[in-house]
Amino acid sequence: MPDRGFTPTQLAARAAYLLRGNDLGTMTTAAPRLYPHMWSWDAAFVAVGLAPLSVERAVVELDTLLSAQWRNGMIPHIVYANGVDGYFPGPGRWQCRELADAAPAGPDTSGITQPPVHAIAVQRILDHSRRHGRSTRAVAEEFLDRRWGDLMRWHRWLAHARDPKFDGRITIYHGWESGMDNSPRWDRAYARVTPGPDLPPYVRADTQVIADPSQRPTDVEYDRYLWLLEEMRRARYDDYELTTAMSFAVQDVFVSAVFALACDVLSQIGEEHARPRADVRELSEWADRFRSGVIATADARSGAARDFDLRADRLVHTETSAMFAPLLCGGLPRDAERQLLRTFEGPRFCGHPDLRYALPPSTSPVSGDFRAREYWRGPVWPVLSWLFSWAFARRGWAERAATLRTEGLRQAADGTFAEYYEPFTGEPLGSMQQSWTAASVLDWLG
Ligand code: GLC
Repeated sequence: MPDRGFTPTQLAARAAYLLRGNDLGTMTTAAPRLYPHMWSWDAAFVAVGLAPLSVERAVVELDTLLSAQWRNGMIPHIVYANGVDGYFPGPGRWQCRELADAAPAGPDTSGITQPPVHAIAVQRILDHSRRHGRSTRAVAEEFLDRRWGDLMRWHRWLAHARDPKFDGRITIYHGWESGMDNSPRWDRAYARVTPGPDLPPYVRADTQVIADPSQRPTDVEYDRYLWLLEEMRRARYDDYELTTAMSFAVQDVFVSAVFALACDVLSQIGEEHARPRADVRELSEWADRFRSGVIATADARSGAARDFDLRADRLVHTETSAMFAPLLCGGLPRDAERQLLRTFEGPRFCGHPDLRYALPPSTSPVSGDFRAREYWRGPVWPVLSWLFSWAFARRGWAERAATLRTEGLRQAADGTFAEYYEPFTGEPLGSMQQSWTAASVLDWLG
């Protein structure tokens, strides 16, 4: 339990208050100033945090997100709030409605996607609804009826458009699609992205909110991010065109593991709620296929999983939280799994002697790529600690899940609900009042 700062009761109240403060009505912004719109995987975690407060409001969150789903099935990584500026790139830069056949007519969205954690939120909503009376249960079940087809289309798009060769791994065409924007996992792939002279000029908005540049990606990195966006625009966001048009194409082992897990969760929901048998069968086939795809990248001894760079045609070795992907979806042989757990808990990660809290840093502190303050290159991200604790509980590792929860709550007891934390000092970094941090805390305390 918290060793300083707020008590659990105070912390839960503040987290709930934060989510209300970030609520625009039918969407919760990812954070008040830095991220004033809805992000796809943030929205799913937010729904996890809202579910214990109000099943009804959690359902609204997912409804808003799914209303922005593309016609091909993609859930876009950003749904823009109406009439809110202050974020770059905004809808004017993406121009999805103008360029993409599959873009929705309604809300403005970005043209890329994010990790498919949404089935977890659906499950949490259903779980919480069971504690309530008939009318709340009906809201959750009616939601499932209404959105089941959309959830299937989302998973089907990932399994088809993003794994055209049936490798059992999801291809991403932009580091942003991984959710771990500037992780060292992408350094080599980005090194081959050469912004053309015709990259339209732009002004970053993030560095105006976060004044300390060491906490954010560099300008060189940003140019590459924007160049990839240019390549996508020129391919008119066409799924098939992207497979050859993009200079960045990596099979993301973490997203693939999340997808395998999400397929398991959704197929379980489908079974319990009498969804079509063919859907349930398809979901478990995808779960198996992607689990195998993840395991195929794992080192036989250490169990560590690796991304596969399609353009360089090789596995990518980095020491980041993504190497633990098999712990999320399962499937490793016993010895390798035990070894991977030892690494997770040992001195290269959570057991590093200088860590303030025993939580997984985004990059191993002993790696040459490690930067203690820089975004996905080292800091601890509470939402990832939550995801690992949730997945570990699901895998039957109650004690490990409890440890992550205890340490996560100790870190959160400062009440800042920071986006990420410096691993050695516990200093809160990035955006404060980050919605998914509050959501993680609410679920832990629920
Ligand atoms: C950053 C993170 C991404 C997150 C977004 C909104 O871009 O890298 O994972 O979804 O912020 O919180």
